[in-house]
Amino acid sequence: MKILLLYFTGTYNTKYLTTLLKNKFENNLNVVDIFEVKGESESIDLSSYDLIGLGYPIYAFNTPKIFYKYLKNLKLLANTHYFIYKQSGETIKLNNASSRKIKKLINKSKGILVNEQHYVMPYNIHFRYEDNCVKEILKYDEMLINIQLYEIRHNIHYVIKSNTIYNFISRVLSIYHFGAKINHSFYKIYMDKCNNCKKCLKECPTKNIYVNKKGQIDFGPNCEMCMRCSFICPNNAIKIGMLEGWKVNGPYNLNEIKNNPQISDSFITPNQKGFFKCYLKTYDYIQNKYNKYFL
Ligand SMILES: Cc1cc2nc3c(=O)[nH]c(=O)nc-3n(C[C@H](O)[C@H](O)[C@H](O)COP(=O)(O)O)c2cc1C
Ligand code: SF4
Ligand code: SF4
Repeated sequence: MKILLLYFTGTYNTKYLTTLLKNKFENNLNVVDIFEVKGESESIDLSSYDLIGLGYPIYAFNTPKIFYKYLKNLKLLANTHYFIYKQSGETIKLNNASSRKIKKLINKSKGILVNEQHYVMPYNIHFRYEDNCVKEILKYDEMLINIQLYEIRHNIHYVIKSNTIYNFISRVLSIYHFGAKINHSFYKIYMDKCNNCKKCLKECPTKNIYVNKKGQIDFGPNCEMCMRCSFICPNNAIKIGMLEGWKVNGPYNLNEIKNNPQISDSFITPNQKGFFKCYLKTYDYIQNKYNKYFL
């Protein structure tokens, strides 16, 4: 098969999953191309692919606007097989509604959605996950990738269901994008911390960061609120407007965490309470399917 993995990423979690998927597909003798959607991405010719994977982080229980807009302009092809690999920081069911608009695009174009999975990844907003929590997440993600590939290879159709209430809430919260437009004007550089390395400017996916007349780093209005700039800034010099209290600064170094034997891959307990309680169901779902297909 010739496969395309088409994705958007803010802080590189989706990129991490895309690389894993690519390697796994290639191990099964498929040819895999990857394409990252950015603000100025060229259109891509879909006609030579047998299967197209659509990957994205969930934002406010929605598909990121930049990714949806790209797919809409691209015009998906009829009779082509698609699968979705979406991911986010928490596992609650409201996230199920996030692909509703992409599913409509696929339906409208008479494409075929063969599979959909929701991966969990560490939060890039709100608060930083501890390393052993991240390692446990990555362990289950790898199992879920094997599950998704198995289902695709064996024509096991699986699509995540949403409902009217989740869809309604997700639709209301899709205004997050207007929030991003307002919030961008509160983005600010802490001049005492910034060393003008321009890392943020080079990496912003929408080319929204520039040097102003005073020679200082500044922000335009075209912000996706993807958190990449503040996440990767080596000096924690970017204030992310009204969300400053939720800032997570510094990459997770996922490969280093995964391969470091000093870090335990055990975090969630059987009687888990609080925020991480919803992980129990997700891990159960993955473990049960894994046992069914592979043990
Ligand atoms: C603006 C914004 C909104 C988010 N909304 C959600 C959400 O609704 N549900 C969720 O589980 N995680 C949410 N997250 C967390 C991200 O989905 C998560 O950290 C993801 O792994 C980031 O992927 P990326 O590194 O590919 O950008 C949000 C993050 C951002 C920046
Ligand atoms: S990445 Fe941080 S330190 Fe470098 S230019 Fe941007 S704000 Fe300044
Ligand atoms: S300005 Fe920062 S948060 Fe906004 S799109 Fe660019 S990298 Fe993402």
